[in-house]
Amino acid sequence: MKNISLAIDGPASSGKSTVAKLLAKEFQFIYTDTGAMYRSLTYLAITHHVTFDDEAGLVDLIKKYPISFKQTEEGQLVFVDGKDVTDAIRQPEVTNAVSEVSAHAKVREEMVALQQTIAENGGVVMDGRDIGTAVLPNAEVKIFLVASVTERAERRYKENLEKGIATDFETLKKEIQQRDYIDSTREVSPLTQADDAVRIDTTGMSIDKVVDAIHQIIKEKG
Ligand code: C5P
Repeated sequence: MKNISLAIDGPASSGKSTVAKLLAKEFQFIYTDTGAMYRSLTYLAITHHVTFDDEAGLVDLIKKYPISFKQTEEGQLVFVDGKDVTDAIRQPEVTNAVSEVSAHAKVREEMVALQQTIAENGGVVMDGRDIGTAVLPNAEVKIFLVASVTERAERRYKENLEKGIATDFETLKKEIQQRDYIDSTREVSPLTQADDAVRIDTTGMSIDKVVDAIHQIIKEKG
């Protein structure tokens, strides 16, 4: 596989990270979970008592505490300020604040620059909300994954159960809708499908089927 860039965008729990990880492993590409970067910043804001509306304070945190990823046999670990935050950034406290944190223009400017540096040599699978539109507008392959909100809530509910996080299904569904709403209506690079992205509705589709569909798209793009 050539060192192409693969951009995978979509709303919360649309299956982006699961398929992105599988494809990155198969192609031996770098996998970058950009949501984990915004989550890490939100975690930093909580632990350093920076309020979510303090744009300058949030930018200072990005500059002061580098976010890094480490590939292990068990999966990707996320570190910030020398600490393993892989599980901490998935807690509801972070999940429910991340859209507010990530809506700031200057926060996005910093994050997009970091993400573009990671991807500068290609050979990358990056997932997020604005990869195809803002971070890697020249990506060779762009995918936009969607799924019904009920199915996405079911997926997240199961994931949470596996992680030992107790959640109420209806609350989860509302939280996902709320996050989608903020992510899609923010002023700076809202969640939106790039003109040249291929949309896949993963409702009722197995992960293998989604991966197969992306293989086909990669093949067609040559
Ligand atoms: O992908 P995940 O659900 O972990 O992303 C968490 C949040 O980070 C999103 O709801 C969104 O607010 C923000 N995000 C973003 N741009 C990205 C990736 C994530 O604004 N490229």
